[in-house]
Amino acid sequence: HPPVLQMEESSVLRRANCRAKGGAPGFKVAILGAAGGIGQPLAMLMKMNPLVSVLHLYDVVNAHGVTADISHMDTGAVVRGFLGQPQLESALTGMDLVIIPAGVPRKPGMTRDDLFNINAGIVRTLCEGIAKCCPNAIVNLISNPVNSTVPIAAEVFKKAGTYEPKRLLGVTTLDVVRANTFVAEVLGLDPREVDVPVVGGHSGVTILPLLSQVKPPCSFTPEETEYLTNRIQNGGTEVVEAKAGAGSATLSMAYAAVKFADACLRGLRGDAGVVECTFVASQVTELPFFATKVRLGRSGAEEIYQLGPLNEYERVGLEKAKEELAGSITKGVSFIRK
Ligand code: NAD
Ligand code: LMR
Repeated sequence: HPPVLQMEESSVLRRANCRAKGGAPGFKVAILGAAGGIGQPLAMLMKMNPLVSVLHLYDVVNAHGVTADISHMDTGAVVRGFLGQPQLESALTGMDLVIIPAGVPRKPGMTRDDLFNINAGIVRTLCEGIAKCCPNAIVNLISNPVNSTVPIAAEVFKKAGTYEPKRLLGVTTLDVVRANTFVAEVLGLDPREVDVPVVGGHSGVTILPLLSQVKPPCSFTPEETEYLTNRIQNGGTEVVEAKAGAGSATLSMAYAAVKFADACLRGLRGDAGVVECTFVASQVTELPFFATKVRLGRSGAEEIYQLGPLNEYERVGLEKAKEELAGSITKGVSFIRK
């Protein structure tokens, strides 16, 4: 080994010994697409997470540059870089959690579904690697269109015989983060005090904020409901248009991804009462996948919560969401089964 690698390995051993002596538990986390707009700030934030002992950064470009940079941060996690397909298996072996922000982002005028042709193949390849090298890892799937990439991942895992629905989680946290922010603005509250459940999926009308279930309890006029629902559903497009061709949300997404990944790690550690929204295999509706609140535990999404009481506006929204979601799910499934 070159000296840097030797030092790194001995540091992993020291930390493993510390854990054996009752120190803090540490998890091994891989980010696939770590050199991208989301990947870089996500890698930085995960390096700052005390629950992470080992952080693997994989990309098809610039993985070593990002790794060298992040590895100088004086936080606990040991960082290693992996570049290109030949190193995918080493990047994945032994991981507890794999976060996937690999793939192309939207430009103005595009829908998330317009990304399908490129991103579906990327997600398939990465998930084949996961099935082979860390079949028991929790997977946080960020790559769009999430409504189709999660079904793609499920089919890849089924083919490999490793599918465990509780461990495959589509990341919809940014919808909740936006909903909390926009609702707090309307109510004149601190967003940290607000909790808005957002269910359905992650695209247009499939993003269904349940404003009747906001905590703290509150009520909205029909105009406020219409404004908030539209703004939450179009939050991604708002950023895509503001960036004017330079990509989609990256910084707020990295924040949201870390919020969700941290919840998954706390669940893995055995913390009680860890609840987040996520797009997951579900029997809450007649669709095979649906985003709702779930309780995260040692085996992933251990409990999937029902939708709770909906008002008329939300019931109409639910029907629209289900119609679009059904098509996106079928498209993802057929991509692998065809
Ligand atoms: P980006 O283009 O800045 O970064 C993507 C990265 O993926 C690049 O570094 C690229 O090299 C890498 N990549 C491409 N093919 C790869 C492969 N086969 N293996 C590993 N890495 C590969 O894009 P971004 O802004 O970071 O967005 C990434 C994805 O996340 C997009 O699909 C975007 O639509 C999606 N996204 C999802 C949400 C959400 O809420 N779920 C939010 C924002 C963006
Ligand atoms: C978002 O919600 O910001 C992401 O899904 C990216 C996009 O294309 O809008």
